[in-house]
Amino acid sequence: MARVTTVYACSDCGARSPGPLGRCPRCGAWGSVEPVAPASGERRPSTPTPTPVRLGDLSDLGVARLPSGLDEVDRVLGGGWVAGAAVLLAGEPGIGKSTLLLQLADAAARAGRRAVVVCGEESPAQVKLRAGRLAVSGDVELLRSTDAYAIADYLASEAPALVIVDSIQTLTSEEGAAPGSLTQVRDATALLVQAAKGSGSALVLIGHVTKQGAIAGPKVVEHVVDATLALESAAGFRVLRGIKNRFGAAGEVGVFEMTNDGLRPVANPSDAFLAERPHGVPGSVVVAALEGQRALLVEVQALASASPYSAPRRVVQGLDARRVDLVLAVLERRLDLPLAGLDVFVNVAGGMRLTDPGADLAVAVAVASAVTNRPVPEGTAVFGEVGLAGELRSVAQGARRAAEAERARHPRVVGPRGGGDAVTWHGAPDVAGAFVALWGRP
Ligand code: TYD
Ligand code: MG
Repeated sequence: MARVTTVYACSDCGARSPGPLGRCPRCGAWGSVEPVAPASGERRPSTPTPTPVRLGDLSDLGVARLPSGLDEVDRVLGGGWVAGAAVLLAGEPGIGKSTLLLQLADAAARAGRRAVVVCGEESPAQVKLRAGRLAVSGDVELLRSTDAYAIADYLASEAPALVIVDSIQTLTSEEGAAPGSLTQVRDATALLVQAAKGSGSALVLIGHVTKQGAIAGPKVVEHVVDATLALESAAGFRVLRGIKNRFGAAGEVGVFEMTNDGLRPVANPSDAFLAERPHGVPGSVVVAALEGQRALLVEVQALASASPYSAPRRVVQGLDARRVDLVLAVLERRLDLPLAGLDVFVNVAGGMRLTDPGADLAVAVAVASAVTNRPVPEGTAVFGEVGLAGELRSVAQGARRAAEAERARHPRVVGPRGGGDAVTWHGAPDVAGAFVALWGRP
């Protein structure tokens, strides 16, 4: 007789565990390990043997793109919504997910497409209140349901162009089950993704993330959807970032401002990000960064102070901490910058997050500027990857970075050699050379 053993899994990261643990051994979340239904172990009734199709025999389907109505969103999606594809929009509560998607539903409705918002979180009356503020078209439809099967049936029968589910954590796929658990979120998502494929609807799922930035519960959802977008806050703005995209490039960013009547695209994010930059202060430098295919000017700050600890602290925000460690080691060993005994803080101003290796030189310059108490000359932007020998390496899109720097009134660019022929370009072979370009002889 087969013994049925209960299987447990973490609702945050999906890690399996043999027993009901208080804390997940993989992601460290507390109280997240829940029982999941065991596999029956029985072979399914046999299905017909599948036959493969030659690639060359497939007709070229292409992807049908529907412009979202906001260029900043299209940029991140890679050209607009894709019919039949599912997008996860993740973000902390209160960041503006519902607002952004209601605006996008409005744009779709105004373009003559059927746009449906599934309200699991707020009542239609609450949504109407918000819609009034945003002057949303009366043609946007609201569907009050948290039953994934019912919503999937609705998709199959009505096939609206755009379906927004607010939020995935409120859905259930079983009678009486608690919403938000790993199995509910996973099964509900799978159902809706399948239904959207069938109906050709563009499906958008809102997912709340926890404080640690993990997508609460539906980390599993990321594998099922075609694209994952994250809405984050930076320097008082909202940054929409493509994390994964099956139909376009990931890593693209769109920048918005939350106003009294919804999210407004920011035309020149570089100017916005630099608006509060202090002038003539040591430890601050402007980096000509690249996020996705977009060049952005952002401020990197460093502060160094005598440490009361035997192991000085290295506190990094908005950058890869290991890259910053590498740059600090290069400064100590190759440039004789005395960092031992100093606590070093490195920050991207305003809480922006940079994934660009071109930010290395900005870290080196900000730290050197802080330690030697020399401000970086005004109107200067830097970029470049730093190697272990202290050399400055080329990064993608040097010319685009320089052009954006010029546009945003930072015409003097210090970067790797051979990147461009702008008169104001100072190509340096190494970090030491970059410092000379900035401050003259060392
Ligand atoms: P919301 O979209 O509800 O966030 P989420 O769905 O991600 O939880 O919006 C969050 C905040 O935005 C809320 O505190 C109110 C504010 N807000 C504005 O400032 N202007 C507006 O036009 C709207 C609709 C909301
Ligand atoms: Mg919301």
